[in-house]
Order: sequence, then C-alpha cells, then structure tokens
Amino acid sequence: MISDLAPFPWTRHPLDPPDLYARLREERPVTRVELRGGQPVWLITRYDDVRAILADPRASADLSREGFPRFGFRPPNAHERPFLRMDPPEHTVFRRLLAKCFLTKRMLALRPRIQQLVDETVDAMLAAPDHRADLVRDLALPVPSTVLSWILGVPAGDREFFNTETQALLDRENTDNKDARERALRAGKALRGYLDGLIADREALTDPGEDILGVLVTAVREGTISRQDAINTAVVLIVAGHDTTANMAALGTLLLLRHDDQRQLLTEQPELMPQAVEEMLRFLTVVHLVVLRVATEDIEIGGTVIPAGEGIIPLNFSANRDDAHYPDADRFDVHRKARDHVAFGYGVHQCLGQPLARVELEVVFGTLLRRLPGLRLAVPFDDLPFKSHAQINGVAALPVTW
Ligand code: HEM
Repeated sequence: MISDLAPFPWTRHPLDPPDLYARLREERPVTRVELRGGQPVWLITRYDDVRAILADPRASADLSREGFPRFGFRPPNAHERPFLRMDPPEHTVFRRLLAKCFLTKRMLALRPRIQQLVDETVDAMLAAPDHRADLVRDLALPVPSTVLSWILGVPAGDREFFNTETQALLDRENTDNKDARERALRAGKALRGYLDGLIADREALTDPGEDILGVLVTAVREGTISRQDAINTAVVLIVAGHDTTANMAALGTLLLLRHDDQRQLLTEQPELMPQAVEEMLRFLTVVHLVVLRVATEDIEIGGTVIPAGEGIIPLNFSANRDDAHYPDADRFDVHRKARDHVAFGYGVHQCLGQPLARVELEVVFGTLLRRLPGLRLAVPFDDLPFKSHAQINGVAALPVTW
C-alpha cells in the first residue's frame, strides 16, 4: 500500500514518469498531496479521469483563482494573464481569434518552407569538421523559434534576441534559482517592450497584415481585445510554441537513438512517420507539469470528491502511460495508434499549435533519418544533462556525431 507521499513533484527517470504514477493509478487514482511549498493539490492519474476533468467546466484554468496550483513561481500580474490561464467566455474570444491562424491546412502549407529550413540547418550541422553537433543548440531550438517568428511576423534580424529572451523567460516557471528568476523577469519585460514596439509599427499601417501580429492588431482596432491582451497573447504563443517543440524534437531524437528497431522501421517505412510522432508525443509527454486546474465547485471523480477551491493536477504523463488505455503503455511502439493521447491536453484548452508542432516534428525526424543514418550519441546516455526539475521535460544539450 502507498502510505505517506513526499511533496510533489517527484524525481523521474529521464524518459519515463516517476514509478509512483503507476502505483497511484492502481491504488489511489485521485489523491491529495502537498506541493513543496505546502499547498495541497489533487493528482489525477488515470487516462479516463484526466480526460473527464479536462472536459469539466468546474475545473477552472484561471490562475488568478484562490487554490490554483503554484510551483513556487511568481504568478504574472493580473493584467499579464495569458488566455491559456482564463476560462470561457473570456478564453473563447482569444481562441476564436487565433483559430484561423493555426488551421491544419495553413500549417501544412508551411511544410515546404519548414523542410527547407530544416535542410539548411542540417547542412550547417554537417559542415562541422569534427562531425559533432549539439542537437539542441544547433537544430531543436532554432527551428521552432524561426518558425514562430514567421507566423508571428517577427523580423528575421531580431531572431537571436528573440531566442535568448524566450529561453530566459521560460526559466521563471522552471527553477528555484533566484538569479534565474530575476533574469526571467528581465526577459519578460524585454520581450513585452519589444512586442509593444512591433505592434506599434503595425498600428501605423492601413493594412496590419495576415500574420498573427496582424490579426491581433486588427482585433485591437475593432475593439475585440485590448492592446495589453495583444501583447500577452503574443508572449504566450512564444512561450507555448518554442520550448515545447524544441524539447520534443530533442527527446524524440534521443528516443529513436535508444530504440534501434523502431528507428529501422521508420527508415524503411517513412509513411509511418505521422503515427510515430503521435507515439513519441504520448510516450514522452514533455508538457507534463503545465496542465493545472482549480475546482470551482465540489467535483466527484473516480469515487473521490475534490472540494471546491482546491488545486488539481491532471497528470497527462500518467494518463498517457495508463495500461488500461494503452496496452503495454511503457513500450515505445511506432505501430501503435496513439492519436488520442493527452500530450496536447484535452478540452477547451487543447493545444492550439498542435498542427504546427506535428509538421515541425515530422520534418525534423524524417530529415534526420534520411540525411544522417549514422547519427549517434557523442557522450554516454548517463552524462546527458536532463532538465529533471522543469515543468517541461527536456534535455539541455544533446551532443551527437555521425
Ligand atoms: C496549450 C502541449 C506546441 C500553442 C497546450 C496544452 C498542452 C500543450 C498540454 C494544454 C494546456 C492546458 O490545458 O492547460 C504542447 C506540446 C507541443 C506544443 C507538447 C509541442 C510538441 C505548441 C505550439 C504552439 C502552441 C507550436 C504555437 C505556436 C499553445 C497555446 C495553448 C497551448 C496557445 C493554449 C490554448 C488554450 O488555452 O486555448 N499545449 N504544445 N503549442 N499550446 Fe501547445
């Protein structure tokens, strides 16, 4: 039997969730724990329960509510709250506005351009005289950041600033380190100031354009959202779209390097790639401590009542490894049909950028398999710097050779 539980979150293996998740699914699928600061929260561990809670309007995503789970990070000021942390009907305004920017057909149309970007990035890697690269620095980080700058409408010349500041900003939620937190606050201010300037440039134009900044500026003009909302939305898109995809690209590559048989299958049958990407998303669930809620009323789930006002963490990493839904769930299997995973969340907040993430990941993995068949780790697996305390699972560097 599971007795007292240590404060949450718990140590995990680099590519797998903590062992305790499996035991909780068996014995205490909805369980109350404390966060490191002492705040009580409810963990949901089974696939069906995670989907049920994410579809339940009584489970609020509004971070300004009392009881919302806090991992020791400073919550943004009320006026900086992104729509990811709002409830309908407030949230719906933003979702409607941006839906057209992320239509699957629009994202698929970007594929040739993304392919060209990835090919050029791989060309630069291959030019290294020592046949070594850091796959995180040289491919996984720059590709999603460049793609974001295209869809947002950020000038190419500002990309380096953009990349550095977004990384620093993300550390706000990822660390107990005071210096990093202060650096993150500065980065947040710098990015806001920068986006404010870009928005001002667009406001001066008669036609603000069709990219995301253009859509936001038009919405401000029409009075649908405030100028502050436009800045917050641009910031959340940068934060949500960069580190997530970058960590998936790096850890997904590592997963293929660790599973020769699956890599071989994908090399021989590239048509399996879309389904393999879903399986990688399921297996790795990189965005694993970001999906947070608070009960606005008492919620009964799996025979347990979560009282109104208490925090909820629907553990999508646990749900995606639930044997009751995915037989032999801890096995990575590119033949598995895993598209119903909850790595992109579920319900009204389900990831807006998923069509884009899918295209980017398919192109990255497909290109690596095709162009670098001899790709392998340049250091022992145990020496890799895994981001074991981060809310988004990843690896800080991935030294490779070919
Ligand atoms: C929401 C995961 C890529 C934009 C979410 C959520 C998850 C997630 C789990 C739900 C959060 C919640 O319910 O509280 C991922 C993963 C990605 C990825 C695993 C990459 C592999 C992207 C990209 C973009 C993006 C590329 C945009 C460029 C967003 C936005 C939301 C969101 C705007 C908030 C949606 C809303 O609240 O309605 N993502 N994401 N994501 N994601 Fe992603």
